[in-house]
Amino acid sequence: MTSLRVAVLGPGGVGGLLAVLLARQGHAVTCLARPGTARHIEEHGLRLTSDRFGELTAEVDGADRLAGPVDVLLVTTKATSLDEALERVPAEVLGDAVVVPLLNGVEHMAALRERYAAAHVVAGTIRVFASRPAPGEIRHEGQLLAVQLAPGAEPLAAALTDAGVDVTVRPDEAGLLWDKLCFLAPMALLTTRARAPLGTVREQHGDELAAVIAEVAAVARAEGAASDPAATREFAWSLPDGMHSSMQRDAAEGNPTELEAIGGAVLRAADRHGVEVPLTRSIVDELRVRPG
Ligand SMILES: NC(=O)c1ccc[n+]([C@@H]2O[C@H](COP(=O)([O-])OP(=O)(O)OC[C@H]3O[C@@H](n4cnc5c(N)ncnc54)[C@H](OP(=O)(O)O)[C@@H]3O)[C@@H](O)[C@H]2O)c1
Repeated sequence: MTSLRVAVLGPGGVGGLLAVLLARQGHAVTCLARPGTARHIEEHGLRLTSDRFGELTAEVDGADRLAGPVDVLLVTTKATSLDEALERVPAEVLGDAVVVPLLNGVEHMAALRERYAAAHVVAGTIRVFASRPAPGEIRHEGQLLAVQLAPGAEPLAAALTDAGVDVTVRPDEAGLLWDKLCFLAPMALLTTRARAPLGTVREQHGDELAAVIAEVAAVARAEGAASDPAATREFAWSLPDGMHSSMQRDAAEGNPTELEAIGGAVLRAADRHGVEVPLTRSIVDELRVRPG
């Protein structure tokens, strides 16, 4: 197995989990974080509590800036802190590394490609329930840990597979990114607006949930993804009643939400293609001005 040099920008729920798993396989992992978190991780490493992997610790480097070359940069901040966080990764230090963002949304791809012209920015998504209760402390709930990658990050795909992650490589970047958004955007927008879990949304706003699923699917099709709103609807109705979205959780806690990266991105893509999304637009507009 080739040992990779991996930098993880934003060692929270997603980034911290993958950092632990990769470091335990012998890869050289550096977590890039704000100074306090970077110091904590440098001194204490990362601790993972996972339903799937058990209790694990990993020694990794912590730094507040990328100082030397890496093979792979995983970008795992939230969209709301992406621009600020990218200041920690100078383009001239990153060079031609492979950059894999695992953020929800689609617009970060163009932003990363513009900023890191010499790098290979490869689309990725992750399906998982992970959180960061304290710096360096990572929780992974349930068994789900599935990463989809576009071609171009094969060494990372192999390393993640060896580390126990379910990895799929698929050729269609638009499909990879929009498949995720087709479910996530309706689920996040409706649960956040209702300040309620998915079961309540299905019971009280089921028609609207189905309508937003159809609108986002139409945008996804216009973007080149083979979306299937009937399958997304079936999936949305198969999930547990108590399921929440992270947008809803962030809104409830008074934290910045990924509304623009998720809902705003759907509207901007709809406008580019002339697709009508009246309900999605009204919900995004309502949430844009809602205090808390
Ligand atoms: N969590 C999930 O289960 C899940 C599932 C699928 C997709 N996603 C997506 O994955 C992305 C990451 O989500 P997450 O839940 O992992 O977020 P998170 O737990 O909040 O982690 C974000 C990390 O970014 C760090 N950060 C914030 N500002 C920074 C800055 N200026 N410089 C460097 N690091 C900075 C935070 O540092 P501190 O530790 O210092 O706060 C934190 O470690 C999001 O787009 C989310 O939608 C998440």
